[in-house]
Amino acid sequence: MLVGVPASNADQPLVAATPDTVTKLKKLGFDVCVQRGAGQTAQFPDSLFEDAGATLVDDRGAWGADIVLTLDAPTSEQIAAMQSGATLISRLAPARHPELLDELARANITALAMDTVPRISRAQAMDVLSSQANVAGYRAVVEAAHQFGRLFTGQVTAAGKMPPARIYVIGAGVAGLAAIATANSMGAEVYATDVRPEVGEQVESMGATFVPIPVGRQESSDGYAKEMDADQARAAEILYAEQAACSDIVITTANIPGRAAPRLLSADAIDAMRPGSVIVDMAAANGGNCELTSPGEIVRTEGGVTIIGLTDLAGRLPAQSSQLYGQNIVNLLRLATPDKDGQLTLDMDDEIIRSITVTHEGDVMWPPPPVNVSAAPAPAPTPREDPAAVAARAADESRKEASHKRNRVIGIVVAIALAALLILTSPLMVSSHYIVLALAVVVGFYVITNVTHSLHTPLMSVTNAISGIILVGALLQIGSSNVLVTIISFAAILVASINIFGGFTVTHRMLAMFKKD
Ligand code: NAI
Repeated sequence: MLVGVPASNADQPLVAATPDTVTKLKKLGFDVCVQRGAGQTAQFPDSLFEDAGATLVDDRGAWGADIVLTLDAPTSEQIAAMQSGATLISRLAPARHPELLDELARANITALAMDTVPRISRAQAMDVLSSQANVAGYRAVVEAAHQFGRLFTGQVTAAGKMPPARIYVIGAGVAGLAAIATANSMGAEVYATDVRPEVGEQVESMGATFVPIPVGRQESSDGYAKEMDADQARAAEILYAEQAACSDIVITTANIPGRAAPRLLSADAIDAMRPGSVIVDMAAANGGNCELTSPGEIVRTEGGVTIIGLTDLAGRLPAQSSQLYGQNIVNLLRLATPDKDGQLTLDMDDEIIRSITVTHEGDVMWPPPPVNVSAAPAPAPTPREDPAAVAARAADESRKEASHKRNRVIGIVVAIALAALLILTSPLMVSSHYIVLALAVVVGFYVITNVTHSLHTPLMSVTNAISGIILVGALLQIGSSNVLVTIISFAAILVASINIFGGFTVTHRMLAMFKKD
């Protein structure tokens, strides 16, 4: 089958395939044709597409292919230029454009909407919303840095001390997490909030501090948030205003699918921010998370707060975004071309294929059956227990604990008695060694058990050094005429060697983990 890549519309700098993804499409058995100049704005000249094995064609050639790849919904003229029975792979926002679906069905076009890929792990490689939001989250921080009048990273210099910038991210989905990672890598102090408490761990793992909304919690059944109840909304509004007032940069990414963006920062909250602060409202295209956002523009309030409402953040990195979008399509076509023979096979029993097929064989297939993806697995219900059984188990446990304590006390008393006996019956010169040994055991026990896990590697070096001393002592004693001393020396050499060589092996393996291939 022939895959066609037309040039995008004038306001879209991205292209739906890159020279790299053309090579991958050819490996799946497809022929590829690219409209002349299609990759120009994304920094991919025609010659690179030709080198990758694509044929250069005019717009009719690209729209007339068996499978057409685009970024955005086609116009009526472009639909008319497609063959009946052809397949369109694009972002189509089907929930917002029912008339487009009717038009595509009438033209007998099978339309696959890349923006309706379900959020399940198997589909992650095809999720264009995530791949674009990831780039956009990065770019949001770059745009904020461009408007912000200070450094992100804190420094102490001869000319004075510079505190780090404080960045607050609201909404820790794909874009929010990318923004957190970028801001953190630039040295800022990052804080983040989300209505879904389950993302707190991800926020912390990116080096930011999670600031929870004090009231209520949401469980996600599809990886997306739901609207907040009144109590939660009030608590959130107060929290966002407080955090914004003490932050230098606020990045808002809150999004609820199928609804206008939730309002997070009122005009009053923005007025209370310090002059020079910056807000990046990533939800600007969908109504905005801030009251004063102007979609597509950068505005400055009277109080000196800059609000960035750009709606083309991913498009500002066109080469990277095109590559990710093109790769998402390659991943989809890999799924739909199991034999790598260049023939598209749409298996409607596959939940990914079914979810993205919005028109097929003249029918509108939207909306698809829901796909349940629990980001936070529901806790298993705890079975109700018989109260008598619970009481019996508690009594049994306390009996076991008492017996355990008694055994421990007996063990300590016996050990002390044995040690005392040994010291008292030994010659005076040897008994002083026993005292040192006993003290070393006690001190060693407390030192080792109180060292935190993260310091076990340096601790291992110390034990290696001690093993070295033991080894030297044992080597000096092994030739003794006393058989007992020889046996003990041999055992000491064996055990100390295991510790030393084991330590070297572990260290070697750990260092290998940091080596590049
Ligand atoms: P997402 O759905 O993965 O993440 C949104 C997050 O916001 C979720 O974690 C959700 O729990 C959270 N959230 C929802 N309501 C909230 C509230 N009231 N308070 C706190 N958190 C709340 O969405 P994704 O992919 O990260 O995109 C984020 C936004 O960025 C979307 O509005 C999207 O349209 C926009 N976007 C903008 C671009 C641009 O160029 N400006 C480019 C790409 C995405």
